[in-house]
Amino acid sequence: MANSFYITTPIYYVNDAPHIGHAYTTCAADLLARWHRMRGEDVWFLTGTDEHGTKVERAAVANNVAPQAWCDNLVSNSWLPVLQTINAANDDFIRTTDERHKLGVQAFWQRLKDNGFVSQGKYEGPYCVGCEEFKLPGDLIAGTGEFEGKECCPVHSKPVEILQENNYFFELSKFQNDLIAHYQQHPERIQPESAYNEVMSFLKQGLQDISMSRSSVAWGIQVPWDADQVIYVWFDALLNYATAINYAGFADGTDRTQFERHWPAVHLVGKDILRFHAVYWPAMLLAAGLPLPQTVFAHGWLLVGGEKMSKSKLTGIAPAQIVDHFGSDAFRYYFMRAINFGQDGSFSWEDISARYTAELANGLGNLASRLTAMLEKYCETKVPQPADYQPADQLIIDLVAKNASSADAAIDSFEIAAAITLTKEIIDAVNMYVTEQAPWVLAKDLANTARLHTVLYVIAEALRAIAVLHHPVMPIATSALWEMLGADALGELAAQSISTAGSWGQLPIGAVTVKKESLFPRLAEEV
Ligand code: ME8
Ligand code: MG
Repeated sequence: MANSFYITTPIYYVNDAPHIGHAYTTCAADLLARWHRMRGEDVWFLTGTDEHGTKVERAAVANNVAPQAWCDNLVSNSWLPVLQTINAANDDFIRTTDERHKLGVQAFWQRLKDNGFVSQGKYEGPYCVGCEEFKLPGDLIAGTGEFEGKECCPVHSKPVEILQENNYFFELSKFQNDLIAHYQQHPERIQPESAYNEVMSFLKQGLQDISMSRSSVAWGIQVPWDADQVIYVWFDALLNYATAINYAGFADGTDRTQFERHWPAVHLVGKDILRFHAVYWPAMLLAAGLPLPQTVFAHGWLLVGGEKMSKSKLTGIAPAQIVDHFGSDAFRYYFMRAINFGQDGSFSWEDISARYTAELANGLGNLASRLTAMLEKYCETKVPQPADYQPADQLIIDLVAKNASSADAAIDSFEIAAAITLTKEIIDAVNMYVTEQAPWVLAKDLANTARLHTVLYVIAEALRAIAVLHHPVMPIATSALWEMLGADALGELAAQSISTAGSWGQLPIGAVTVKKESLFPRLAEEV
């Protein structure tokens, strides 16, 4: 569909509970989904869990639980609740143990076999269970400390296992030239540029055929033509993006509507899994005759002590630890604003506290409280009628228009932090304007009433635009702000057009405003 925006997160392994690294990708996807919804696009936001394979099976075994029960428990008690914790509004949640997924995966691989892209072979080589990946010699690093003398995975810093299996192979090598040509023609399909360059140099080294099944693994989806093998977990997992929108129905022609409505997708992933999404997955899609992803965007890592935060290294921080203290809005704001999307970053309690106080409590929260207090005092708790604008007012009007349209453009290039900063610039400018115009001084002389009303209207109308632009970032606080401004007459905040957020003069004159508790209450001292 022309105005379709289908966005996905990776489906996460349920070998353990989520940490803020997983919440980070989901927050970004949720922000983009909300932004595109406010453009009036046909948005579909998918997330979910990756439940098969050795890693999850071993976690279950180590805990003396059957794999299915292990997954059910973690999904219900950890992975679904974390979506509430961070206030993600996903449209669907797929589990690779869902029947719809199994059906779709089997239909897909049967098609690839029928199309002549599956052969039989023997895999001998290294495998990282942490990555669930057949490693190439150039991928590995020399172990240190207890792993001295062993070849290790650079992501997990643990020795790889050496496999010898008779498997089915996907003829990946056949797609090297087509993929190179595709990406040369459409460089925007892999972002940011560093990710594009990495994929192109990998492609140019040449592609080898790759195992698409495992003979020594039991916990997985059966290969449709061979009951003794299961589909390699990545070649089961990647298909979630298609199976969730009824690939099975599309493939057998029984119901093509959902697939045709949404496909293709924008895939947000961490840079750890770029190759799977920008090389293997598109090759599989080419083999099946399906359109390639709209974009694969690989973001950076949240680091702990310079290394990727991870479940397996037990360096994860649970999102609730932060959200319980700061709230979900501040969590979302902090991670999306403090780290440029695409680059690595570190979380620190000091940094989030400082930004909470400076940018949210003193910046936006204080502005909203001051405005509503003054409207109560000077304007009978109503949005006043502005008179003629002066240059200082015009500066605000122009900044709102300019930054709103720049923010909308920034979102198209996945510059999430930049979009947030553009809105923050409006907040800072309006705070300065309040200080300079000093409405409380104007209020002392009745002769200044028209000017007082103009100033207060400028502040209120700027806050109206701010509420719209910040809504995808902080849905709760902006909804409270919407109510404070008496903006309900414009309809629900989520239904506002974000593309025209910067057009001046939308807030209805005479709307009844509401004084509320501070949008961002001061925090207890200790963190
Ligand atoms: O790879 N910083 O699942 P996974 C930023 N099941 N993002 C992080 C992160 C960090 N420190 N740690 C995790 C898998 N992430 C597969 C995916 S998709 C068809 C299958 C995020 O549980 C980031 O999005 O290891 C990363 O790519 C993903 O979680 C990996 O999650
Ligand atoms: Mg991982």
